[in-house]
Parts: sequence; structure tokens; C-alpha cells
Amino acid sequence: MNILFLGDVTGRTGRAAVVRRLAGLKKQYAVDFTVINGENAAHGKGITSSIYHELMDAGADVITLGNHMFSKHEITEHMDECPWLLRPGNQFPLTPGKAALVRECLGHRIGVINLSGSIFMDSISESPFMTMERILKEMDADVILVDLHAEATSEKELFFHLFRDRLSAVIGTHTHVQTADEMVLDGCAYISDVGMCGPYLSIIGRDIKEVTARMVKGERTRYKPSEAPAVICGVLITVGTDGRAVSIQRIQERPI
Ligand SMILES: [Fe+2]
Ligand SMILES: [Fe+2]
Repeated sequence: MNILFLGDVTGRTGRAAVVRRLAGLKKQYAVDFTVINGENAAHGKGITSSIYHELMDAGADVITLGNHMFSKHEITEHMDECPWLLRPGNQFPLTPGKAALVRECLGHRIGVINLSGSIFMDSISESPFMTMERILKEMDADVILVDLHAEATSEKELFFHLFRDRLSAVIGTHTHVQTADEMVLDGCAYISDVGMCGPYLSIIGRDIKEVTARMVKGERTRYKPSEAPAVICGVLITVGTDGRAVSIQRIQERPI
């Protein structure tokens, strides 16, 4: 089974790139199951219910979130209409939404879990290690993937080594920059950060002039996503019939 994971969809051009390319990527890599992190999909921060449906219609099976999960308040009132949407389980507020689900694919039960790191991240209710133990006690699945939305590489690597015996993949998100450390160890795939699907010429998705005004000149600015054409970043994970990962391959399609 081939599982595609696409990193943080960011802004209008990120959404457009994913909608334009997802069917082609699925065909090219014979993808059976697709997970997309959509935490930056709505103007760079958060997601709306209509964007959730846009990404699902484009071919996603599950959408995960991150620290910007509720930046667009509208989504909190429509969680019931978004059955395949996850939010980090250890980030305040702890409601609404869920951090884990199981979805059938080709006769396999695929579990997907969304957690946040605790280092350099705001509003964390407890360490991802503790939340993960609790979720695993209740999860009954053949394949288990975790989107660990975290800043610190050390925390992501530790998470991988603590849980790899019980997981098929640990996929890091949040930094928006794809790392080159993907590996499979004893049947569990890992990458520290999958990268983003968002504006390539930008500051991790944000408008360069706006960030310059803020960081160099100290001006108070309003977050503005870059309108530059998007890079697509993801990984393809192949899982055997025993539910263990066999390979992980980085995908990166740059616009220039
Ligand atoms: Fe993000
Ligand atoms: Fe994030």
C-alpha cells in the first residue's frame, strides 16, 4: 500500500497547487491513501470548512492540522461536518475535534494521529509522549501514522525512537522546510519535516516584504501569505501487508 503525505498547505497558491497536482501525483505514485496537513490553508493560518471540502474533493482521505488549527474560528462550528479532520490532541483548547481516527483502505484499518510538539510551541496541554500513550491504548488499526507538528527536531527524533515499534510512520510537520533525513527503521518510516505545499519564494510561506518590515524594521505588520507560485512537498510511504513501512521517498516539486 502506498500512502502519500503532503505537508502544510499554505495560502491560496498552496491550495491551488495541491488541487492541480494531487490527482496526477496519486496516479504517478500509485497512491492508495492520502493525508494532507491543512493548518495554513486559509490565508496562511487555519482552515475553513469550505477549504476542508475543497481538499477532500481534490483527493485527500484525512486532513491534519497544527498550532493554527482554530485561527479561522468558523471551522470550530463545523467540525461535525468534517469527519476526516484531525487536530493536535495535546493543544489547548482541547475541544472541539479529535486527534485520532481510523479509516478503511484496501481492507486495512489505517489509523492517523495528530499531535503537537511541546518545545517552542504555545498552548500545549501535555507532552506528546503522554498523549500518544493514551491514544495508542485505544487505537485498533493495522497501519498507524502520526503527524507530529513540532518545532524541535530533537523532540521529533525522540518521539520516533520511543514509539517506532508500535507505529508505521512518524511524519514531522510545522517548520515548512523539508529535511533530508528520511529513513525506515524496523518497519517505521520517519522524516523530521515533510516541508510545505506553499509559496516557494517566501519566508516559510509568508510575504518577504511583510516579514522584512516586521523583522528588520520592527514595524507592526499583519500576516500576509506570499502570492508566489507554490512548491509541493511530501513523502510517499510504502507499507507492507503486515502494516510495517518498507520505504519512504521524499517528493518535492518546485515551481522554478
Ligand atoms: Fe504550518
Ligand atoms: Fe504550524
